[in-house]
Amino acid sequence: MANVTVIGAQWGDEGKGKLVDWLSNRADVVVRFQGGHNAGHTLVVGNQTYKLSLLPSGVVQGKLSVIGNGVVVDPWHLLDEIERIGAQGVSVTPDLLILADNACLILPLHKDLDQAREAAAANKIGTTGRGIGPAYEDKVGRRAIRVADLADRAALEAKIDRLLAHHAPLRRGLGLPEADGEALLARLEAIAPKVLAYAQPAWLKLNEVAKAGRRVLFEGAQGALLDVDHGTYPYVTSSNTVAGQAAAGSGLGAKATGYVLGIVKAYTTRVGEGPFPTELTDEVGQHLGTVGREFGTVTGRARRCGWFDAALVRQSVALNGIVGVALTKLDVLDGLATLKICTGYRLDGRELSYLPAGLKAQGELTPVYEEMEGWSESTHGARSWRDLPAAAVKYVRRVEELIGAPVALLSTSPQRDDTIMMRDPFQD
Ligand code: IMP
Repeated sequence: MANVTVIGAQWGDEGKGKLVDWLSNRADVVVRFQGGHNAGHTLVVGNQTYKLSLLPSGVVQGKLSVIGNGVVVDPWHLLDEIERIGAQGVSVTPDLLILADNACLILPLHKDLDQAREAAAANKIGTTGRGIGPAYEDKVGRRAIRVADLADRAALEAKIDRLLAHHAPLRRGLGLPEADGEALLARLEAIAPKVLAYAQPAWLKLNEVAKAGRRVLFEGAQGALLDVDHGTYPYVTSSNTVAGQAAAGSGLGAKATGYVLGIVKAYTTRVGEGPFPTELTDEVGQHLGTVGREFGTVTGRARRCGWFDAALVRQSVALNGIVGVALTKLDVLDGLATLKICTGYRLDGRELSYLPAGLKAQGELTPVYEEMEGWSESTHGARSWRDLPAAAVKYVRRVEELIGAPVALLSTSPQRDDTIMMRDPFQD
């Protein structure tokens, strides 16, 4: 298979950035196809740490990088991130980065709405507050401003009027001041040339590249259980995060996804609110959070931690068509005497092998656990399967059995080269 699609198989923060960076060495193009700058990808290369939220991780390796039409783009953030990473020695020029001209923009009024709603809500979602949800609402509401509109003042003016008419009562209801259309127009015009320098019909370029036999790496953001259809709705993000979105969010056609690689953390975490059957609020949960440094890249919030939920990942394997997984952060389990794996749930005296759709049911599940012996040796930085203690190998094998997919890659530290490859996703 020529292409690889990397997907978070849990609630995000599985370590996709490191794997995408590692795999981008073998790819020709790296494509983001959903989400926005709510994502947080940390790449550690030698003594440099790169924190990306919107740019495809391929930029660090100097690979052609595409922000596809499925992404919502905060143009000010885009320029800031390009500047920030430029200061670290990574030059992001229009030769390297393509921004889909049909992608929709995130505007300051989206961020206002996101934050004001979260502040006012009795049942908070726990969003990143970056305007993602409201921007997607305007996209499907057919009133969004798209990248190409930046080149057309008349279209921009008309669209701003329409958008403000929609937002005015929402803002009033939340006690926000009226948005200033002229100021918004001026701000957009000021950055338009810089943003437009990257704008292209990305679908066209991608189809040319694919026809020439180049390898495309799709970089998913968030995780499958945050998918707006398949996740723990309404505690989800506002885009489809599953692998099928790679085609729609890039314009490369339904066969484009190739090998779907699910990134799976050796335990479970989630940020924000919502159901989490295997959550641990005891000292084991604290151990996972501290040793795993489980703090959000974007918001700095402490992540909730829990045991590995094989039922959840099995569901994710099905939803995404995952061919193989990359297991990350196994070393965080080092030193725990006993490990638990959730194999299914109990609800009202019934056994369930999957996460039900109802929010009430999701909140009332009792996990069914299987216990395994832990290991006291360190697996941190292991570069060969032979370096792993027998109990760790057993854990990995049991995970494979329960989720119904093989482990293709094992990541043993944040460092790029601390990666054990069992199968090459680009060759499989
Ligand atoms: P939003 O995407 O900012 O609207 O937030 C919706 C939900 O998705 C919240 O629970 C966030 O914490 C979660 N979320 C969004 N982006 C990420 C991510 O990159 N990693 C983990 N969780 C995320």
